[in-house]
Amino acid sequence: MPKLAVTGKGGVGKTTLAALLAHIYAQAGYAVIAIDADPAASLGYALGVPEELLAQLHPIAEMDDLIYERTGARPGETGGFFTLNPRVDDIPDRFSVTYQGIRLLQLGTISKGGSGCICPESALLKALVTYVILYRNEVMILDMDAGIENLGRATASAVDAFLIVVEPGRRSLSTAQTIHRLAKDIGVTRCFVVGNKVRDEADRAFIRESLPDLPVIGFLSFNPKAVEADQRGRAIYEAVPEMVAEARQIAATFDQAMATS
Ligand SMILES: Nc1ncnc2c1ncn2[C@@H]1O[C@H](COP(=O)(O)OP(=O)(O)OP(=O)(O)O)[C@@H](O)[C@H]1O
Ligand SMILES: [Mg+2]
Repeated sequence: MPKLAVTGKGGVGKTTLAALLAHIYAQAGYAVIAIDADPAASLGYALGVPEELLAQLHPIAEMDDLIYERTGARPGETGGFFTLNPRVDDIPDRFSVTYQGIRLLQLGTISKGGSGCICPESALLKALVTYVILYRNEVMILDMDAGIENLGRATASAVDAFLIVVEPGRRSLSTAQTIHRLAKDIGVTRCFVVGNKVRDEADRAFIRESLPDLPVIGFLSFNPKAVEADQRGRAIYEAVPEMVAEARQIAATFDQAMATS
């Protein structure tokens, strides 16, 4: 049961890939938990979760009463004591929504932000994600940004792999290298690259050549239908079947790489 974090520069297609992979693993019969760690929370839309269901989903970091109940302190309280290992085992089932075989959890924003934030809500999120990684018998797909500030080193390092999404442009490739260094630094041994929005063979070659130290496990072609799906809040896997086929190839290569490494 792979536990993977999808990461990369802003706008490269992390949420798109995370949604596609969640769908592919669910279709293959796996239990899947998709975790939206982006404060902007768009994974639910990419998964096509209906509005009524999304309305039932509340970001964990904003559940003040739950945070108080579990940690002993409220968000924003400073200087007080709170537990660093709160009970979280019931949270994935109680505070998620499930749609088409994919359980979706939304983490929300840690108000104080910044790296190394020591606050009750971050203690709860870290404990929660670590629990999902270590104890839940599900494929976990974490839609994360380029940093690990919200989750911290220990949590981020518990994943099996980072999938770093890039597009054929200098900035996202340089971010990929930064993420690769960070991953090594915190002890994540497997990093794989997915090239997104590629138009042709030259784009594929450009990505491969720009990242000689990183295995590229596949590509998603640039597809205007993806933009349209995003604009209309339609599930990417319903709206763009071509991308599902490409993502299936990526998942197969990923599974193979995991099995042999
Ligand atoms: N293969 C593709 N072809 C065309 N457009 C794409 C492709 N993949 C993603 N997009 C579009 O690029 C935009 C950003 O995609 P997405 O939201 O998946 O990126 P992200 O990395 O999650 O962004 P953020 O950092 O804001 O969370 C969206 O409008 C999406 O529809
Ligand atoms: Mg996103």
